[in-house]
Amino acid sequence: MHTILITGGAGFIGQNLVHAWRAARPQDRLVVVDAVTYAANLRSLEPLIAGRDITFVKGDINDAVLLRGLFEEHRFTRVAHLAAESHVDRSIDDPEAFLQTNVLGTFTLLKAALDHWRATGTLERCRFLHVSTDEVYGSLGSDDPAFTENSPYRPNSPYAASKASSDHLVRSFVATYGMPALITNCSNNYGPYQHPEKLIPLMIIHALEGKPLPIYGDGSNVRDWLHVSAHCDALINVIERGRIGETYNIGGGNERNNRDVVGLICDALDRAFAADAKLAARFPACTAASGKSCRALISFVSDRPGHDHRYAINASKLEGELGCRSDVGFDDGIGRTVHWYLDHEEWWRDITSGAYKAWIDKNYGFRIAV
Ligand code: NAD
Ligand code: TYD
Repeated sequence: MHTILITGGAGFIGQNLVHAWRAARPQDRLVVVDAVTYAANLRSLEPLIAGRDITFVKGDINDAVLLRGLFEEHRFTRVAHLAAESHVDRSIDDPEAFLQTNVLGTFTLLKAALDHWRATGTLERCRFLHVSTDEVYGSLGSDDPAFTENSPYRPNSPYAASKASSDHLVRSFVATYGMPALITNCSNNYGPYQHPEKLIPLMIIHALEGKPLPIYGDGSNVRDWLHVSAHCDALINVIERGRIGETYNIGGGNERNNRDVVGLICDALDRAFAADAKLAARFPACTAASGKSCRALISFVSDRPGHDHRYAINASKLEGELGCRSDVGFDDGIGRTVHWYLDHEEWWRDITSGAYKAWIDKNYGFRIAV
């Protein structure tokens, strides 16, 4: 049995990891630390917190005193570090919080874990998993081979640079202090509980509300889409069986350009409306409610500065060493995700009705149609 600290457990991947961990390892004790920023949502964790199935602490990973107290109280043997500022467009608009949380916060957490594990003589029995992104490797050309764990670091956005810095800190703690840490670099996730600021939920929700679907540039940018359930399976495997000091790339094997992703979402929504007459009454502004494809809402807008052209992951190390492979096909995963958002309207309405509106005005107000 282990006691696990999950940072950022109220975010998109964090919530999914909490549920996946409880299903896979019900004997383990989970403690979530999360600052509950705009990106957090506690709704799916509330029953677990109320039932004392997990412990939830609202707190900042920059708070060294809080972290020291938590390590002393719970004596964690595993840390899964997911807390971060995670949205590229926000990092372009205002990078400071990214440096504070992603770089300094990671440092503070690493130090708290190392100090505690050294003081208690448990370093050899413990493991620290740092969850990072493929964006640290920069951008690929259309014909370049996919990123491997040996690809050079070439971050292009403040977000990617802050995650690259945190990866380097983790690596240095392994080499210098013998920190029992592992790093994962994964591709774009999608699935339940993703914040509506990210491409896939944004497009689903805009289509339901009959708003334009804003594709940056010409929509030829490619991402390798990884369903969050496959990602969480891989994370549990890496923290348990990965080799200390190693990096593992995690990908979905689903490279798609943004035009195709948005087209698939529109097709899935069109099919859902055709199959269920009640949807037209719930979402009357959606073009599909009047029998017209959601594709009519697609709008090409000015590009993101420094927009990486392509990410692709070579996940053969993860598969070869740990036998993990994503088995979620993209068409199936998108269909399920569209239905999840249709079934969880209250969840996303809560988010989109608040301060999020101001972000939408800020990020899309200045973009002109191209
Ligand atoms: P998210 O933005 O949905 O959630 C991040 C969580 O961290 C939120 O709950 C937020 O409240 C919390 N947080 C932020 N600052 C904090 C602080 N200072 N102290 C404590 N908690 C804080 O992000 P996500 O999509 O779930 O991503 C999780 C991790 O996975 C991140 O490290 C991200 O860089 C990485 N990642 C995500 C993706 C993706 O596609 N979502 C891809 C690659 C890597
Ligand atoms: P995003 O979900 O922000 O993830 P990331 O930037 O980390 O890859 O964006 C995914 C892709 O979708 C990226 O190429 C930018 C593009 N995009 C749009 O075209 N329009 C949008 O409104 C958003 C949010 C993203």
